[in-house]
Amino acid sequence: MSDHPITVTVNGVEYERQVEARKLLIHFVRDDLDLTGSHIGCDTGNCGACSMIVNGTLVKSCMMLAVQADGATVETVEGLADGEELTPLQKSFSEHHALQCGYCTPGMLMSATALLRENPSPSEDEIKKALQGNLCRCTGYWNIFEAVKAVAR
Ligand code: FES
Ligand code: FES
Repeated sequence: MSDHPITVTVNGVEYERQVEARKLLIHFVRDDLDLTGSHIGCDTGNCGACSMIVNGTLVKSCMMLAVQADGATVETVEGLADGEELTPLQKSFSEHHALQCGYCTPGMLMSATALLRENPSPSEDEIKKALQGNLCRCTGYWNIFEAVKAVAR
């Protein structure tokens, strides 16, 4: 199968790669770029662990082909912190014990980041709605909502 050339900017770094047409964005980012912060929980668009922000829009990266990201700007969980300096949302997750195993956390952070950019003062209902595509098997969600609420203006 022939590969296709793509150029993708991920967390501010431009990558030029050859990819198979069938390769998913999540596999491209994890396997080809070695950015393994985004997780794969289902590969069917249900769990949200693979959430990334592509051209400013939240996407489940297991639902998108890498070739579709040609020319795009992609943000993953690795791009949130500024070096060692965590974002207020990341700090809030830590302070509110908003994670246990942490498997869902990268996706939760990306979804909540996208929400807060669009709506810096979300209501509790809006937070719940924004995170409804992200599954967590551990926390019961409450501390996650509290963590997001704490940084909402
Ligand atoms: S791995 Fe993409 S939604 Fe579950
Ligand atoms: S903290 Fe374990 S799945 Fe959410």
